[in-house]
Amino acid sequence: MDLQIAGKTALVTGASKGIGFAIAEALVNEGVRVVAAARDHAALDAAAARLGAQGAEVVALSADVSDPIEIRRLLDATRERVGQLDILIANAGGPPAGPPSSLDDAAWARAVELTLMSAVRLARAVVPGMRERGWGRIVNVTSLSVKQPIGDLTLSNAMRSAVTAFARTLASEVAAHGVTVNNVAPGYTATERLEQLFADDYAKARLVASIPVKRFAHAHEIAAAALYLCSEQAAYVTGQTLLVDGGMVASTY
Ligand SMILES: NC(=O)c1ccc[n+]([C@@H]2O[C@H](COP(=O)([O-])OP(=O)(O)OC[C@H]3O[C@@H](n4cnc5c(N)ncnc54)[C@H](OP(=O)(O)O)[C@@H]3O)[C@@H](O)[C@H]2O)c1
Repeated sequence: MDLQIAGKTALVTGASKGIGFAIAEALVNEGVRVVAAARDHAALDAAAARLGAQGAEVVALSADVSDPIEIRRLLDATRERVGQLDILIANAGGPPAGPPSSLDDAAWARAVELTLMSAVRLARAVVPGMRERGWGRIVNVTSLSVKQPIGDLTLSNAMRSAVTAFARTLASEVAAHGVTVNNVAPGYTATERLEQLFADDYAKARLVASIPVKRFAHAHEIAAAALYLCSEQAAYVTGQTLLVDGGMVASTY
């Protein structure tokens, strides 16, 4: 199926590895020009080289999306290098794990900046141009925790729900202008983040046993859902969360 996004321009943050890289790769494969962002220069350059290996135009710009100044710098450099953006994939690493009792104000403030305000600031910056041109796609990478909070991932649980509520509200504001705002909510996906959270093999095996599909997701399976939300075919889908979790969340809605 032709997703009708060839020639569009996308910014993918958190694109040097894991789910963000897989989404960037899926977009590149559709003929989308991609600006890839992450903090670590070397890892980002290596990722951009892989993404551009088949001749695709990929721009690598390092930035920490938890810092408003770096977001501004990233967006200015993006505008200078590729012009206006048609697609935004708002993604980054998740905030650290910890039970509610272990988290002080500073930990909460960092999580707000990293997960909520990065999505807010990025969206706020790209929406005017998208509205003006009557076409845009914003996809936030959240988590299955928006449907079912996960153990000690207090900060992630709370921040993903805040991003979801923000996205739903923004979706209504921009819907009449050809701009959609959605979230892809991954279940347990085989990436470095998962390795960090579940280092021990026994815990990992127990987790896999609890997933109806009986395996972790591949990052490209999350990317496929994000890609659909970026397509022309998804023009009538907005304000939604697409759960890609191997059947893990058992609720009806
Ligand atoms: N993997 C899972 O099972 C799973 C499940 C549900 C939700 N999620 C969520 O999905 C998102 C992606 O997860 P993942 O597994 O792909 O993570 P990952 O493998 O750790 O990759 C995270 C990516 O984001 C970049 N990044 C991290 N912090 C950043 C920052 N402050 N500014 C800019 N870039 C940043 C990383 O590069 P640098 O470190 O170089 O910046 C890397 O490119 C996370 O928010 C995660 O919580 C993951």
